[in-house]
Amino acid sequence: MFDLNSYLVSKSNYINKSLDEILHDRLSSSRIVSAMKYSLMAGGKRIRPVLCIAAAEAVGGKADEVLPAACAIEMIHTYSLIHDDLPAIDNDDFRRGKPTCHVAFDEATAILAGDALLTLAFQILSSVELKNENYASKWLSVVNAISHAAGYQGMIEGQMRDVASEGVMLMTLNELEEMHSLKTGAIIEASIYCGATIGNGGIEQMKQLGIYAKNIGLAFQVADDILNVEGDPDIMGKAVGTDKNRKKSTYPSIVGINKSRKFAEKLAGNALQALDGFDNRSDPLRAIAGYIVERKK
Ligand code: IPE
Ligand code: IPE
Ligand code: MG
Ligand code: MG
Repeated sequence: MFDLNSYLVSKSNYINKSLDEILHDRLSSSRIVSAMKYSLMAGGKRIRPVLCIAAAEAVGGKADEVLPAACAIEMIHTYSLIHDDLPAIDNDDFRRGKPTCHVAFDEATAILAGDALLTLAFQILSSVELKNENYASKWLSVVNAISHAAGYQGMIEGQMRDVASEGVMLMTLNELEEMHSLKTGAIIEASIYCGATIGNGGIEQMKQLGIYAKNIGLAFQVADDILNVEGDPDIMGKAVGTDKNRKKSTYPSIVGINKSRKFAEKLAGNALQALDGFDNRSDPLRAIAGYIVERKK
């Protein structure tokens, strides 16, 4: 039987080691590097880089080949959290079990640490050794997918809608689904796309993994909304009840907790179905679909 827990531990150790090495030599005494390290190494679940690796393995690729994409994505995700927590956005004091970056340092440093992680991600992506033209064109499409997902057509647009609607109006279900797919789904979809692209996935595999990714990307944010209502802050390492306080549009605020849970389960089921044609190398992806909706943190 596939053991997801040991898989997650071993892959996140692998990713952490690489992130550590990337930041190791970079002027470790500087204030900006301290702030970048503080948030990057604070103990995130690493689910996006793990998905990137699991998608590569599902199509027969290797973890070490996709590692630069996996690390770049985790840097971008961490930057998005640092900025998401700023007073001007969600104004949160606690993240990954520690004071948020702007609390531990100051607001200016947190803004700059986010900027620096975002740009470092593209420095890492553009440092990959390119073996041949085909390989180069695959990496170019990875850079394109990540920049698209992280930018104004993806995560940033989702964050903009989140901020603009806060306290002003409750969204319709369609608007909410679109916002969640943008603010959280896009980067998760890109993680899987990048892993499968570098892993040399075929056309049909890419199509099915795209369906898997779309479903778990949305499910991940639905689960985040549910945890914000009934999660344990000690386990999660961040505060709960904040969405309600800030009058956010969320699945629980619009359809209630039970329907939110059912919806997340349905999305995970759709994701599993998309993997029907895959062999047991996609067992990690299968297990992660269940984990995303059952997780406690
Ligand atoms: C939290 O992401 C923010 C969302 C997009 C929902 P994670 O739940 O993956 O947070 P970390 O990386 O484990 O801290
Ligand atoms: C975060 O969404 C999405 C990002 C792009 C960072 P939330 O604001 O709902 O996530 P948490 O609950 O703070 O982790
Ligand atoms: Mg937010
Ligand atoms: Mg937030």
